[in-house]
Amino acid sequence: MTTISSPNQDIEIGDLARSSMKSILTEYKDHAIIIIVDQNTHDLCLEYLITTFPELKKAEIILLPVGEENKVMEVCMQVWNAFSEYGFGRKDLVLNLGGGVVTDMGGFLASVYKRGMDFIHIPTTLLGMVDASIGGKNGIDLPPFKNQLGTINPPKRVYVDLSFLNTLPEGEFYNGFAEMLKYGLIKDKVLFNEIKDFSDEKDFHRIEIIEKCIQIKVNIVDGDLNENGERKLLNFGHTVGHGIEGYFLDSAAPISHGHAVALGMCAEAYISMIREDLSKDEYKEIENVLTRVYPFIKLNDIDTNGIIELIHNDKKNEAGKIYTVLLQGIGSSTYHNELTEKELGEALLHISMLSDIYN
Ligand SMILES: NC(=O)c1ccc[n+]([C@@H]2O[C@H](COP(=O)([O-])OP(=O)(O)OC[C@H]3O[C@@H](n4cnc5c(N)ncnc54)[C@H](O)[C@@H]3O)[C@@H](O)[C@H]2O)c1
Repeated sequence: MTTISSPNQDIEIGDLARSSMKSILTEYKDHAIIIIVDQNTHDLCLEYLITTFPELKKAEIILLPVGEENKVMEVCMQVWNAFSEYGFGRKDLVLNLGGGVVTDMGGFLASVYKRGMDFIHIPTTLLGMVDASIGGKNGIDLPPFKNQLGTINPPKRVYVDLSFLNTLPEGEFYNGFAEMLKYGLIKDKVLFNEIKDFSDEKDFHRIEIIEKCIQIKVNIVDGDLNENGERKLLNFGHTVGHGIEGYFLDSAAPISHGHAVALGMCAEAYISMIREDLSKDEYKEIENVLTRVYPFIKLNDIDTNGIIELIHNDKKNEAGKIYTVLLQGIGSSTYHNELTEKELGEALLHISMLSDIYN
């Protein structure tokens, strides 16, 4: 069991049965415990949790509908009404068992209800383990805009147990992989080189790599919990990525968060190269890794304009200006770079062209 403890976060990585969870549950023995799941984590993860901690048999289960399109206020209202009907109080405990949708939304539900209940994250996707459950951001979408409503309020604990990955569909690993590559690109060239050729599901079960990713995020977040400075680096790939994800959210073929971030990283690395911050060789290396793993999509003019329109509403913008993270090299990045619409248009055109070359 590895423990990462910092002023804002307590994360335990390893076998749940050997974690501090048992003693936390004892602290709450006189309180209601609510487990929030979606249908998949209900079917595939809940039994392991309850078998490990039989005292959870009497916990109340709240079932969320699966998927990003349900990370919205209407679903929250239903859950808060249920909390109220069950008579849950501020001192009760919420366990969020799921991927980033469940932890983002479960954290938000708990943070807001009665001005804040204690909650714990138990991430069950790779993306949840290396990113979404770490750092204390909770929230929901205001479609088509991502994560527009939320809180920064770290969970009481995060328990990362890799055995949940055993049931994760293969495609889901690549969502987490995008965020792992992001850590390498913004901060750690050694990590990038270690993971860039990952291609087998077994690669993603390497606990030392998962720990390294978590540690990078914890280090960044701890210096800047409220995202006034360095934490913005974690948004690399997300200015364009959130635009793409939001634009296709309601379409017949929605694009998952990790996939959109991968496309966004390629676009933002391309802008870094055009500005001569990033060398052509390093850009090419990034493009090769991303195009090997992620399908690139053809964007027509309507798509490009729609995506740029959404980017104008990005949370990271200030005074009507678009700001983003750019690379100065693999492992080195800067935030607060103002982007023009022209640069965005060129970058989107470029990633669209890559779909002709690589697909
Ligand atoms: N708060 C943050 O800092 C932060 C950071 C990154 C991403 N996010 C958010 O995370 C979300 C994406 O997270 P995600 O990729 O985990 O998506 P997700 O929660 O939708 O999970 C992906 C799919 O895997 C299923 N699943 C989950 N665990 C499983 C398991 N163990 N076995 C089988 N199936 C399983 C889910 O039901 C879902 O169908 C986005 O909403 C994104 O905005 C938040």
